[in-house]
Amino acid sequence: MQLLMAANWKMNKTRAEAVDTLNRLDTLLSNLGADRECVVFAPFTALAACAETLGGNGRARISLGGQNCYPAKDGAFTGECSPAMLLDAGCAWVLTGHSERRAILGESDAFIGKKTAFALENGLKVVFCIGETLEERDSGQLAAVLERQMREGLAGVGDAISAPRLPELLAVAYEPVWAIGTGRVAGPKEIVEAHTLVRSFLNQRFPAQGKDLRILYGGSVKSENAGEIIRLDNVNGVLVGGASLQAESFSRIALA
Ligand code: PGA
Repeated sequence: MQLLMAANWKMNKTRAEAVDTLNRLDTLLSNLGADRECVVFAPFTALAACAETLGGNGRARISLGGQNCYPAKDGAFTGECSPAMLLDAGCAWVLTGHSERRAILGESDAFIGKKTAFALENGLKVVFCIGETLEERDSGQLAAVLERQMREGLAGVGDAISAPRLPELLAVAYEPVWAIGTGRVAGPKEIVEAHTLVRSFLNQRFPAQGKDLRILYGGSVKSENAGEIIRLDNVNGVLVGGASLQAESFSRIALA
């Protein structure tokens, strides 16, 4: 299975900064093995410039993703961006369900489910994020929360998409909210426990493809811990925030 090494730049970087980081990353990743795929989730305003930077030079090592999209083709949705617009800007991927959008922007499981299905139906690949808060974990709700987020978030992924290509098109990122941006990475036992739950849900939900869908870990991944994390059972890549902002540190993670 090809590992998916994903950078989430969040609300960081001007166009010039994004292009500079991407150019350096592309050079640093010249030895990236065929067993690794990299995607950079850049801010909307930098996507076209990033696509231009990556395009034309056969730089297939890195693909581009948007951090959000709206589940409609077009219309009166001020501030939003459609899947077609992301594709037009050079994206192959989009993120859905990120905990910052759940917590800060108030996105519900049902809305995230609509978005995930719509993005897939309209030609984007999706990294769908889930994860529990510390309160939910401490009150014994880990399995129930992940199960609910996956059941609702993947509810609209229809038969047309549950095709042989699904493992290429959809990845699930497990990101415990208490580990995001806190420097507190989940321990190996915690990661394996959660990823096992995710895998068994995926096997039930997509009997033919569940075993081949990639499950990423996210939350305070750094070059120091990435190697150990990606070698754990059912970990098929990482989603990296803070440590992805510098080309040098993300390249060390991607090559870990
Ligand atoms: P972090 O963020 O690596 O800074 O913890 C991960 C994420 O939010 O995707």
